[in-house]
Amino acid sequence: MGFVPTMGALHEGHLSLMRRSKRLCDRIVVSIFVNPTQFAANEDLSAYPRPLSTDLQACKRENVDLVFTPTVDVIYPEGFEMTIKVGRLGELWEGRSRPGHFDGVATVVLKLFTIVAPDVAIFGQKDYQQSVIIRRMVLDLNLPVRIVVAPTVRESDGLALSSRNVYLDHLSREAATGIHQALIWAKSAVRKGVTRPGQLNGKMKRMIEKGGCFSLDYIGFCDPSTLQPLKSARPPLAILIAAKCLTPGPAMNRRYIDNVIIH
Ligand code: PAF
Repeated sequence: MGFVPTMGALHEGHLSLMRRSKRLCDRIVVSIFVNPTQFAANEDLSAYPRPLSTDLQACKRENVDLVFTPTVDVIYPEGFEMTIKVGRLGELWEGRSRPGHFDGVATVVLKLFTIVAPDVAIFGQKDYQQSVIIRRMVLDLNLPVRIVVAPTVRESDGLALSSRNVYLDHLSREAATGIHQALIWAKSAVRKGVTRPGQLNGKMKRMIEKGGCFSLDYIGFCDPSTLQPLKSARPPLAILIAAKCLTPGPAMNRRYIDNVIIH
């Protein structure tokens, strides 16, 4: 049994995870649950899109065998207390701007694994830090599930698919491609032998912030398995980016993340 956990607002990225799961497994289960414990008080929990009937139709078209759509009180019943503490891995990069976020992710994923009991679970590479944390949790807690991380699905101009892309207006949508372009440029520079993050940072920041629609939160040069920052940008290397949208409107202050892994 293959399992694709989601928060709904399904797009091609999610569908690609379902197709991957279909290729690997006889049956597939998808969960749709907007998990409150991974949102901070100032984040977009109430505004998070919940197009359940469109999502269910998409699952039907993908021949999903079962869609699990629990309510909050099913996952977090009265008196709920026990949570996962991710620790150091959850405090780096995204964790610095979103304290507690990965504790919420790990807690709900562990609960979903226990309820669904899949053999294989598929996650997208776009949320790279999340995938590393889930792999670590599976190892540390001896969970009987195989984790597969599937490549990021992109628009034709390279923008990583995300439920948050719908909030971007014309100008910020165009500017958002700077995030992917910065990663592509950095990958090619690393391949050409540039090894000092300091030599890469400046130009990447300019590419991301060009036009004034985004403000860079971080560029992380790190070990792909431990996420520890690296002094030298030598492969194997993960480059992680987060940028905040500055354009007034529904995208304002939303975070956009992407990454590249260089082997
Ligand atoms: O990646 C997501 O959509 C969520 O973090 C997940 C894994 C479904 C947990 O809520």
